[in-house]
Amino acid sequence: MPTRVRLAEIIEALSRALDLTEGQPAGHCIACCYIGTAIGAKLGMSGEELRDLYYTLMLKDLGCSSNAARIASLFDADDISFKRNFKLVDGSLSQVMRFLAKNTAANAGPIRRMKRLVNAMRQSGEATVEIIRTRCENGAAIARQMRFSPAVGAGIHDLDEHFDGGGHPLGKKGEDIHIFARIALLAQVVEVFFRDAGPEAALREVVKRSKTWFDPRVVEAFCDVAGRRAFWQQLASDDLEAIVLSQEPGEQAIMADEDYLDDIAAGFARVIDAKSPFTSGHSQRVADFADMIGDQMGFTDMRRRKLRRAALLHDIGKLGVSNSVLDKNGPLSPEEWGTMRRHAEFSEKILSHVAAFAEMAIIGGSHHERLDGKGYPRGLKGAEINLDTRIVSTADVFDALTADRPYRAAMSTDDAMTILWRDAGLALDPACISALERGLQQSQ
Ligand SMILES: [Fe+2]
Ligand SMILES: [Fe+2]
Repeated sequence: MPTRVRLAEIIEALSRALDLTEGQPAGHCIACCYIGTAIGAKLGMSGEELRDLYYTLMLKDLGCSSNAARIASLFDADDISFKRNFKLVDGSLSQVMRFLAKNTAANAGPIRRMKRLVNAMRQSGEATVEIIRTRCENGAAIARQMRFSPAVGAGIHDLDEHFDGGGHPLGKKGEDIHIFARIALLAQVVEVFFRDAGPEAALREVVKRSKTWFDPRVVEAFCDVAGRRAFWQQLASDDLEAIVLSQEPGEQAIMADEDYLDDIAAGFARVIDAKSPFTSGHSQRVADFADMIGDQMGFTDMRRRKLRRAALLHDIGKLGVSNSVLDKNGPLSPEEWGTMRRHAEFSEKILSHVAAFAEMAIIGGSHHERLDGKGYPRGLKGAEINLDTRIVSTADVFDALTADRPYRAAMSTDDAMTILWRDAGLALDPACISALERGLQQSQ
């Protein structure tokens, strides 16, 4: 049966992965969508325009994984908590300095800490622009790949510009900043401060930053919206996700067909692969190898298509793992291993938010299980691991061995196949290894 799923339902689920990357609780982007869409409606937007704003808000952090590795290395920090804490800084020099002093190399000894801090402060001007530019440009490009309009791309691109010209990466001013971005930036600050300290704190912060960070016209619209008690009640409600889903603007909900689902998965795979320089292209290659195995096994086109998508998204949970762990040049401590292993659980959780993604959620959650029961997270055994998952696991291990890693150089195909065969029947399914071997030979 061909799949047709509501686009808003998929984007809501994927926005939770963006929340993880930004160190925000799941639902941050959804709440921003609720706040910003209410402001857009107040400003007189409707139909297509309001719908574009709705998706901009949910996908505002689409480029956020692209700068995670740079933040982790420049500030010698856990990028996730660094990003979370930075959202509460108001941008004044004194606050930024205090923030950097507290969050740079927080786990290092005093001498190394001081050196890193001096280095970070020396580089931070240029580096900030570069970090934000990467994020904005990648986010906008991925939105286009996922078929969103140029307006959505422009809104994501301008997210960190400030009304007075003091933002980044271009220092745009006033109405040169896309209106979606002016709304999204305000919505983001409201959400973070509301969650931290309630409605008054959020309002105070908005008024304080009017004309500097925020467009006064957007501030005024927000103040109107904020005067309604029901607005805050819904924002705090456990049903917010369903409320936002039910409020999708436009006459009819957008549905994603098979072709569109392929584009969404491919676009989001770029978000996943951008997280670490060492996993660049990993999801895409795992999808290619999994497809090769599916082809050798005589799968139908539809099954191969679904397998490809699952392979593209299998590591989506890695967006929730800090780059200080993902990119570590050396053995991981038991605690770091625990963090790394949690990515499978995160993948399952994110994908299971979309009912039509149930099979993908199983694969995402169990691609590190082993036939002998020594895998994770559940220690499943043999027949408890389905064939499609075994295929993705085989493709995953093969790619991990043949790509560069922080701790070793890439291995040759022959050496990698030797290792795969050593694990046959223990970790991996021999039928999958054999199919991969045949596929690789035919592709030469
Ligand atoms: Fe994985
Ligand atoms: Fe993987």
